[in-house]
Amino acid sequence: MKELSKRVLELFPSPTLSISAKARELRKRGERVIGFGAGEPDLKPPEILKECVIRALKEGHDKYLPSAGIRELRELLSYSYQRRGVNYGPEDLVITGGAKLGIFLVLLALIEEGDEVLIPSPYWVSYPVMVKLCGGIPKFIDLKEEEGFKLTYEKFLEKVSPKTKLLIVNSPNNPTGALYDREELLKIVGFCKERGIWVLSDECYENFVYEGDFFNLAKGFEENVITVSSFSKSFSVTGWRLGYIGAKGEIVKKLLSLNSQTLSNATSFLQYAFYYFLKEEEEVKKYLEEVKRTFKRRRDLVVSLLSEIEGISFVKPEGAFYVFPDLSRYYEDDLTLSELLLEKEKVALVPGTPFGARGRVRITFALPEDEIREGVGRIASFLLDGGGKGSL
Ligand SMILES: Cc1ncc(COP(=O)(O)O)c(C=O)c1O
Repeated sequence: MKELSKRVLELFPSPTLSISAKARELRKRGERVIGFGAGEPDLKPPEILKECVIRALKEGHDKYLPSAGIRELRELLSYSYQRRGVNYGPEDLVITGGAKLGIFLVLLALIEEGDEVLIPSPYWVSYPVMVKLCGGIPKFIDLKEEEGFKLTYEKFLEKVSPKTKLLIVNSPNNPTGALYDREELLKIVGFCKERGIWVLSDECYENFVYEGDFFNLAKGFEENVITVSSFSKSFSVTGWRLGYIGAKGEIVKKLLSLNSQTLSNATSFLQYAFYYFLKEEEEVKKYLEEVKRTFKRRRDLVVSLLSEIEGISFVKPEGAFYVFPDLSRYYEDDLTLSELLLEKEKVALVPGTPFGARGRVRITFALPEDEIREGVGRIASFLLDGGGKGSL
């Protein structure tokens, strides 16, 4: 047989998905695993959304659709963006198979062999992998815990170069929970606009903000900021694979062609279901407010529990649903630590290394409060009882 492509030689499965798979296996064997690993909310999707899916199925929306997605849904999304001051018309939006595919399509449309892509670090595991698949070179902007893991104009200037094609911004952030400062981002995006640098704003966690306000980066910068967002996290439907891209100009046509030549269209009946559901504005608002309240309580709980463990440090998350503590004073090797925690304590979490931060772990606080208590308790006793070989 001839060889596999060079492109996939270094490719590995997403570590966040692998850890969830391992946890599922253990659960199947009857173990009580505390699942801090998955990057998804544990809540149920809105009941009315499920009814909308059934309605869409019964109506027979089974066939191929326009690649951009149904006009009705794009109109609703456009309306929502316009209300927030972002000038995306329905023709500027492409519905795709989750934000993940959306990000990949944007990178395919922009990145040429040797282009540099700036990625604030810690970062979502898939960014550098996807950039490399497209022939680009990831350049990391190292963010510090002491600075709340926030991207600043100064830090951006240190890394930007004539080869920079694109900057990826993810705020609220996975894995740090940081919400970047608006003024800093505006300076960065202004600079990028002047120099013709694209910005990809990954806004998957836009509805998970506990401190301060979320703002859409493309507002006033629609020409050089491409927005990617998703229904996955907001409505607890990560498995449905529905997301969207907002962009202006020539690139939209190319994104559309990429969508059309790869996916054809995002799942037909789910597009109709979201169209019916999003029209129920009051229901949508009520659901999202409840989600936010629940997650804020959980955030406060996990922060207070972690604060009691001596020798670890972390930043209080302002958004998303992750906390990213540094456990290196107990255990430098986060990969082994995560394996031991799963094996010995039946706690699933994701090591920090794949996010660009050795010695840390990512804890998802998307689970009931009693499980958060128990899970952090198990981690604490493992570390403090010397399970962590290099304990304090
Ligand atoms: C930062 C970030 N971007 C994108 C995604 C992908 O989301 P989706 O389910 O819409 O593909 C995730 C999911 O974990 C994420 O954390």
